[in-house]
Amino acid sequence: MENIFPIFNQIVTRDEKEKLIQQRGMVFWFTGLSGSGKSTLAKGLERKLHHRGFMTKLLDGDNIRHGLNNNLGFSEEDRAENIRRVAEVAKLFLNTGCITICSFISPTEKMRQIAKEIIGAENFYEVYVKCSLEVCEKRDPKGLYRKVRKGEIKNFTGIHSDYEEPKAPNFILRTDNKTIRRSIRQCYREVISLIRY
Ligand code: ADX
Repeated sequence: MENIFPIFNQIVTRDEKEKLIQQRGMVFWFTGLSGSGKSTLAKGLERKLHHRGFMTKLLDGDNIRHGLNNNLGFSEEDRAENIRRVAEVAKLFLNTGCITICSFISPTEKMRQIAKEIIGAENFYEVYVKCSLEVCEKRDPKGLYRKVRKGEIKNFTGIHSDYEEPKAPNFILRTDNKTIRRSIRQCYREVISLIRY
């Protein structure tokens, strides 16, 4: 870190920005298996918040891996780096006062812990999108489980590598027993009090 001169103390603060846009920044971190409904719910929540006048940013695994993280694969090491970078990006949005929604499998407690440390525990709200592997595989929205069973994909979460359930998430959203609309409504009710100015 030699020859680096951060100017954090000179830039317009998060408080000032939150006042301007009349909302409290927060990171909502959606974790869960592929096919559990993370992205669908994250998108739905973002849309609903936007309609209600909130400034939002959605960071989603498939999108981010298409750009910023297109040099990363699915080894444990690459996933950890994926999450680390995403957490740093989320923090930038958070400090702009944005309601930042992150949708990443983030399969281990350690990865999520690192994200929480980078973002700050008081700004990090973990949503576990809970759905059994059987149901995820049955849904198979991207046809990936089918490819996995044919041996065309390696290191797939839940099949070749573990998904560790969050031990103490802020909120558990089960998606195998209710409609998408109801899940989004439930999620909205959970988050709204945290972001009102
Ligand atoms: S994470 O494990 O590093 O958090 P991330 O959420 O960014 O994963 O990306 C997961 C998405 O990548 C899945 O929704 C799926 O579309 C795609 N994908 C491709 N290969 C794999 C794999 N081996 N394991 C999990 N997801 C994969």
